[in-house]
Amino acid sequence: MTDIRAQVQAVLPGIRTDLEDLVRIQSVSADPERLSEVEVSAQRTADLFAAEGVEVEIVRAYDGAPPAVIGEKKGPEGAPTVLLYAHHDVQPENDHADWDSPPWEPTERDGRLYGRGAADDKAGIMAHVGALRVYGDDLPVTVRLFIEGEEEVGSDTLVELLEKYQQRLEADVIVIADSGNWDIGVPALTTSLRGLVRVDVEVRTLTHAVHSGMWGGLVPDALMTLARVISTLHDDNGDVAVAGLHSGPAADVEYPEERLRAESGAAPGIEWIGTGSSVERLWTKPSLSITGLDAPKVAGASNTLVPAAKARISMRIAPGDTTENALACLLRHLEANVPWGATLTHTVVDTGEATQIDATGPAYDAARAAFTEAWDGTEPVDMGVGGSIPFIAEFLEAFPQASVLVTGVEDPDTRAHGANEGLHLAEFEKVVLAEALLLRNLG
Ligand code: BES
Ligand code: MN
Repeated sequence: MTDIRAQVQAVLPGIRTDLEDLVRIQSVSADPERLSEVEVSAQRTADLFAAEGVEVEIVRAYDGAPPAVIGEKKGPEGAPTVLLYAHHDVQPENDHADWDSPPWEPTERDGRLYGRGAADDKAGIMAHVGALRVYGDDLPVTVRLFIEGEEEVGSDTLVELLEKYQQRLEADVIVIADSGNWDIGVPALTTSLRGLVRVDVEVRTLTHAVHSGMWGGLVPDALMTLARVISTLHDDNGDVAVAGLHSGPAADVEYPEERLRAESGAAPGIEWIGTGSSVERLWTKPSLSITGLDAPKVAGASNTLVPAAKARISMRIAPGDTTENALACLLRHLEANVPWGATLTHTVVDTGEATQIDATGPAYDAARAAFTEAWDGTEPVDMGVGGSIPFIAEFLEAFPQASVLVTGVEDPDTRAHGANEGLHLAEFEKVVLAEALLLRNLG
């Protein structure tokens, strides 16, 4: 045990340097201009694992599909097989002006390492590399690897990849390092994740723009019409008003009001929407947000009736629901609520299934023991998250017997996807230690 602790401390400076190198790669999977960077991050990821003695290969579902890194390093005969999952692509950094240091230049401030991907999910990759580096050639289990390059854009080719490489991905246990912990100093196992359905809807009310003074009052403009459609998505309490969506019970944890206020980024005076406990609203009830709008800019808006307007609807669905059901419910709702004879067309952007994990059995015991040890006696809580990792449901479909451990490096102030994303370095050390201890316990 002290050996493993000492080993983690010994490998940590190198892990930190390698993480910084990964963060410098702008592997934004949503940006067609930067797909070559996604190739670079796949190669760098493969090199990092190869250096730990993993036999790696960069694979794709078909020519030109996003690159995933798979691999294997054998442990003792008869030891279980553990698949390590993370993703090497990242979200767009968006407006550089919102960052306190350059998004692609990893920068330490007050115990955090800032940069896009510094947590989500390049630190997840490095937690895996770290655990391997701790053991060198005395690996207690057989390790397999799946680091995907399209998680942040909905993992479109995942099913094909899982089919194509089924034999090389099969495992007894899978460690998904893409979630986080409950608080600084309090570890967690993530036991539920919401699914996601994203749909673009376009409303059209005119065949072309016309003078707003000549025709306003008789012909509805598309932007106002779209706003009315959007306003039907919630009731007056702020609950989702789409009929037929599923809700369920949440993990038994208390999320204190002060923490919600501090961590959510809600502006002063903002009221919570919806009903039910806060963790139900965040983890096990559906939510609907508008994450983009195509409409004329205010600066330069002319006195014309806008003929067409488009919105992106991002719907999170509860564990127990399916994307098929939720999409059908949403489309039915939209069709039934377009006023004034306007036409509404839609395009599905992406979907990912929700997950509910039964966190009982030997693998979970091994994980809880490892976490408690790494956090000096503080036991992990079972928590849900409102975000999505479509891979989990796909993987369980392919390998229903596997135990899924959802871990990760995030803490309540990580700001994944936002400006000033940052990794809490002291907690990261515990994450690496916990994963090393987990591999030992599983062995
Ligand atoms: N790491 C997140 C998932 C997550 C979110 C875990 C919040 C814990 C808390 C992951 O990288 C992610 O953002 N996933 C996308 C998936 C989508 C594109 C299908 C998401 O949730 O938006
Ligand atoms: Mn992630």
